[in-house]
Amino acid sequence: MVSTSRPPEAQNSGCQYLPCPISLDATRSPNQELLPLTAQINSRDCLEIGGCDVPALVQQFGSPLYILDEETLRTACRQYQDAFKRHYPGASQVLYASKAWSCLAVDAIVGSEGLGIDVVSGGELYTALQAGINPNKLYLHGNNKSIAELTLAVEANCIVVVDNWQELHNLAKEKSGISKPIRIMLRLTPGIECHTHEYIRTGHLDSKFGFDPSQLDEIFRFVSQQSTLNCLGLHAHIGSQIFERQPHQDLAGVMVEWLNRANGYGLPVSELNLGGGLGIRYVESDDPPSIEEWVKTICEAIQAAAQARALPLPKLLCEPGRSLIGSACVTAYTIGSTKVVPGIRTYVAVDGGMSDNPRPITYQSVYRAVVANRMSEPSTQKVTIAGKHCESGDILVKAIDLPEVKSGDTLVIMGTGAYNYSMASNYNRLPRSAAVVVSRGEANLIVRRETYQDLIQQDCLPVRLKQS
Ligand code: LLP
Repeated sequence: MVSTSRPPEAQNSGCQYLPCPISLDATRSPNQELLPLTAQINSRDCLEIGGCDVPALVQQFGSPLYILDEETLRTACRQYQDAFKRHYPGASQVLYASKAWSCLAVDAIVGSEGLGIDVVSGGELYTALQAGINPNKLYLHGNNKSIAELTLAVEANCIVVVDNWQELHNLAKEKSGISKPIRIMLRLTPGIECHTHEYIRTGHLDSKFGFDPSQLDEIFRFVSQQSTLNCLGLHAHIGSQIFERQPHQDLAGVMVEWLNRANGYGLPVSELNLGGGLGIRYVESDDPPSIEEWVKTICEAIQAAAQARALPLPKLLCEPGRSLIGSACVTAYTIGSTKVVPGIRTYVAVDGGMSDNPRPITYQSVYRAVVANRMSEPSTQKVTIAGKHCESGDILVKAIDLPEVKSGDTLVIMGTGAYNYSMASNYNRLPRSAAVVVSRGEANLIVRRETYQDLIQQDCLPVRLKQS
């Protein structure tokens, strides 16, 4: 079992732990924290993560800077796996949904913990293969996979999570010409609603993902007739940033019923993948279940549903993204200009924004922030953290209590590990930010900061357009 207690060096460093609401309680899961598990305040009154002083990291690597705490990510991986060992007597496999953050180092870390990886494009697949992930643990998703993506996956011996009829036909022997067995899972839309942002809900019937369950019999019949398609199991994913446990409990029942029906067609389907979706705590009022509670819920629900139908326990998979990596990372910015609109609002601008974190403008997501170079200074003002993009909606945090801030201060926004780097853009031609992984006082670059040269690297200037 993995301990969530602090590393010994943190216990003896004389560092003070952070005050509420960013206090670190060792009994909580990473997905219930605002800051990474190794966060502390050092003798310079600065935020330290993974034993590294955050303002010093900004000095060394520049800002905006994604700072990934290796221990928090590894702890979350182990919490998922340990929970399965405790609550599920059958086989299980945890996959990391790499759409949350796909890069070599992240894939390598989760892979070294024994997790498989869910990839959703040729690019994510290529990254995972380059990171050395065992192809037997790689699952290719996507609602419109290209032939090139399918070929890459099949040739590398990955598992394809088939989303629709066109893909099924493309993979069937007569169309693909492939004669070796292809391992597939079938993604089905369960018709389960959950309370999360409309854009990140996928389980309801009116979704672009997965087969419509009204066609189950047709699908199972077709697959059972394809000698080259080896259908391992069924998949469903109902949405993201979910705090309720009931939808996944319901999903377990629905999926065991589907499995029963598939077996009726002679399909030796024995694996169920319940997707990801466990939410994390971005602000104090968020109260997601712990990883342990979430895993326990799905394990018990699957066991109960299998028992009720006298079915053997399926191999159980899940593919979390956010709850593995979300709380493991913060983004450090340098504060620049401040604008006071008397009686209305004070804008404090940072050197990044919607290009490194598009979640607030896309989903109205909320975040918390601290001034990393003066951690114990009391809050005296309410400010709005603005990005530097030419877009009024480029606001990272609305109305947050902070100490007096000045140009040059380091502002840290917490919980930026999931869907920040992976959704980053070059809007306004801002170079994409660098990322470091920190552990036991060491910081290693895992993504280089883009340069202006990188920005024009793919541009082509036809000769006739060249300025004389
Ligand atoms: N499996 C499938 C098939 C998925 O579509 C997703 C997320 C996951 C697993 C992982 O879900 P998680 O455990 O991370 O909730 N960009 C949005 C989130 C989009 C989620 C897309 N699918 C955001 O920033 O909130």
